[in-house]
Amino acid sequence: MDLEVVLGLALGSLIICCGLLKWNEVRYKKKGLPPGTMGWPVFGETTQFLKQGPDFLKKQRARYGNLFKTHMLGSPSVICLDPELNKYILMNEGKGLVPGYPKSMQDLMGKWNISRVYGSLHKSMRTAVLSHMGSNTIKSGLISEFDEFLRTHLSSWSGKVIDIQEKAEELWLLSTLEQIVGIQNDVMAQELKSEFMNLVSGTLSLPIYFPGTNYHRGFQARRKIISILEKLIEEKKASPSSQNRMLDSLLRFDDDTEAKFSDEQIIDLVITMVYSGFETVSTTAMMAIKYLYEHPRALEEIRNEQFGIRNKKSPEDMLDWNDYKSMNFTRAVILETLRLATVVNGVLRQATKDIELKGYIIPKGWRIYVYTREINYDPSMYPEPLEFNPWRWLDKNLESHQHFLVFGAGGRLCPGKEMGMVEIATFLHHFVTKYRWEEVGDNKIWKFPRVEAPNGLHIRIWDY
Ligand code: HEM
Repeated sequence: MDLEVVLGLALGSLIICCGLLKWNEVRYKKKGLPPGTMGWPVFGETTQFLKQGPDFLKKQRARYGNLFKTHMLGSPSVICLDPELNKYILMNEGKGLVPGYPKSMQDLMGKWNISRVYGSLHKSMRTAVLSHMGSNTIKSGLISEFDEFLRTHLSSWSGKVIDIQEKAEELWLLSTLEQIVGIQNDVMAQELKSEFMNLVSGTLSLPIYFPGTNYHRGFQARRKIISILEKLIEEKKASPSSQNRMLDSLLRFDDDTEAKFSDEQIIDLVITMVYSGFETVSTTAMMAIKYLYEHPRALEEIRNEQFGIRNKKSPEDMLDWNDYKSMNFTRAVILETLRLATVVNGVLRQATKDIELKGYIIPKGWRIYVYTREINYDPSMYPEPLEFNPWRWLDKNLESHQHFLVFGAGGRLCPGKEMGMVEIATFLHHFVTKYRWEEVGDNKIWKFPRVEAPNGLHIRIWDY
């Protein structure tokens, strides 16, 4: 090809690209919007956001301040890194700041998933959820049930090299399925496990419904999960079980004259609970194991605490609420892991009407990314923020300080917070009192958009 033609094509493409970028900026140049850039039509700045993650956000903050506009994950958005404003947004759902998760997540979790419903339906769903995982349920038996589950599942790890990421995911998926749905059947649990893994990948993808995409795979997985749950609901309705799992009591409500939730609503609620419950907790457990391995002094202290509890009990005695309450250092390890690994980077909201924030107008329909990650690394709150230092949490005020938003805040505060903490503490109790371990091979960790070990986190385990 002639050099002139090549140069002509290159120049033409450049002009078209500049034109498209400019057109996209002008389109969103309404008065009163926060500063920022909008990237490409349709795709916006999604690629920069997903690829550069925190660095992209920091770069934009340096140019535009703590509140700036962008276009990502298919929607015009603003990103907020201001701690006070973030708290305000989470505490003010009633002012038109409702959850606004991306289309792929909403589609795959279903239209009745708890973060898509508002008002009285949201309230009754939360009540149903909390009656199954609030403090009372935990005190009255959930700890010992989980303790028993772990004894069975952790018993055969000695002498092996395992991928702790995979094992923790499996462990929590199976236990969540048992707790919420009441499934103990291994075949069904294994089938649901692989479908849920596909669903999770689909929720973090662009909503392109085409064979081979994660979104498409996620949809197929959702269909299969629904058909398994429908069958299970039919069976449970035909012969009501004496089990008291969340699914059983949701169905009992349905049989009541007040008919609270439809089957469709129950299925979406169950899917959301399993989805929300297993990955956050298993990732935190995996990262705690990693940090403890890298910090022998913390490992020694948590072992001392856990042996102190174990040695007061006979080997077959299960842990109880008082034991959990006495695990101060273990709780500190979990909170420090959540902070440093930033298992949750932030949460998403959507404006249901034009809303004023810090003198700017956020138009109706725009998404607001309440980005909480940076506050976890603020040296004025956490001196030497990049250090794993569980001792900092022994000062109780830190845990309840108003900017610690790992579990969210306001009316959407994580209902599984206490249960997740209790389960990780119970897991650590067994793991550190039973085993020693060392990492094997090169275990990479990615921290964005979600925390994961892309090739697994391999550890060799032997008896303590
Ligand atoms: C380490 C563990 C966990 C972390 C860090 C965590 C984090 C969060 C966060 C940040 C939110 C707020 C979302 C928002 O405001 O839009 C949330 C909500 C939620 N979480 Fe958790 N979570 C954890 C464990 C669990 C567990 C174990 C369950 C249940 C089995 C659970 C179920 C939920 C549900 C259902 C919601 C939605 C609440 C609502 O919309 O009212 N989470 N979680």
